[in-house]
Amino acid sequence: MGATIYVNGRITGEDEAVVPVLDHGFLFGEGVYEVMRTYGRKPFLYGRHMDRMRRSAAMIDLAVPFTAEYLLGEIEKTADRFYEAQGEAGAGMEMYVRVLLTRGVGAINYDVRSCPAPTVVIIVKPQVDPPAEAYEQGVRVILVPVVRNHPNSINPLIKSNNLLNNALAWQEAKRQGGFEAIMRNYRGEISECSQSNLFVVKDGRVTTPPLEAGLLAGITRAFVFECGESAAVPVREATLHDADLFGADEVFLTSTTREIVPIVRIDERTVGTGTPGPVTRQLLAEFRRRTPEGL
Ligand code: PDD
Repeated sequence: MGATIYVNGRITGEDEAVVPVLDHGFLFGEGVYEVMRTYGRKPFLYGRHMDRMRRSAAMIDLAVPFTAEYLLGEIEKTADRFYEAQGEAGAGMEMYVRVLLTRGVGAINYDVRSCPAPTVVIIVKPQVDPPAEAYEQGVRVILVPVVRNHPNSINPLIKSNNLLNNALAWQEAKRQGGFEAIMRNYRGEISECSQSNLFVVKDGRVTTPPLEAGLLAGITRAFVFECGESAAVPVREATLHDADLFGADEVFLTSTTREIVPIVRIDERTVGTGTPGPVTRQLLAEFRRRTPEGL
């Protein structure tokens, strides 16, 4: 079943959803986005996603033309249409909700004054979880040569529609049969994955690179710190290098649509015992225990 899409207030099926080619989001990748998923048909950690969207938009000097409350109403309208279109197949289905905000239509130049009105898009489609084997057996990822954007180039803190850096990294990992791509920053330190954040576990302590390493401030990443606190698992930020990855007892990735996925192989090397480890399992259990609390 396809997506239901809202474009500046018009809600249609995916075949009819269109944005003008002179939209600077299309021409230049000028825009920001958020991906949320629902639990119980409600976007999880909605306020945090909206705060991040506001921060991303500010970093490209783009005004957000809605309040979080107003946008939630528009998401709910789109969701209603989505479930209508799904019919019986929608029972028990959770949603993937992608909100895009672009500079809007203007002249073919970089002058922001030529774009009087931003474009707002909401894409609602079924949330597809990673396969059960990913959680039970863990996944293999690839440490790719594609370098994460320098913070003075396109700052990875901006959740930008300009995703070429991420796409090239992921495509390289895919070519090598990996589930995800791990990227280093311009200093050669570990930063994050193409669509997720990265954590390592050593001697029971969990570590993830600091924001200063050039990465997205993942909503799930922050939530994992909270899960660690409630599960009495120490989670901290520290600079990581290749050796920390390959010498780790456990490694896992986090994202909105994937929660916490254990990594058991990096390139051709096995991580720890080659099976999802106890700390990763404990954090995932705590994460899932807490998800309804965020509603
Ligand atoms: N990706 N890093 C990058 C580069 C990402 O694109 C994402 C999210 C994350 C994880 O952030 P969060 O926990 O807030 O989802 C980290 C989303 C899911 C996507 O682009 O589909």
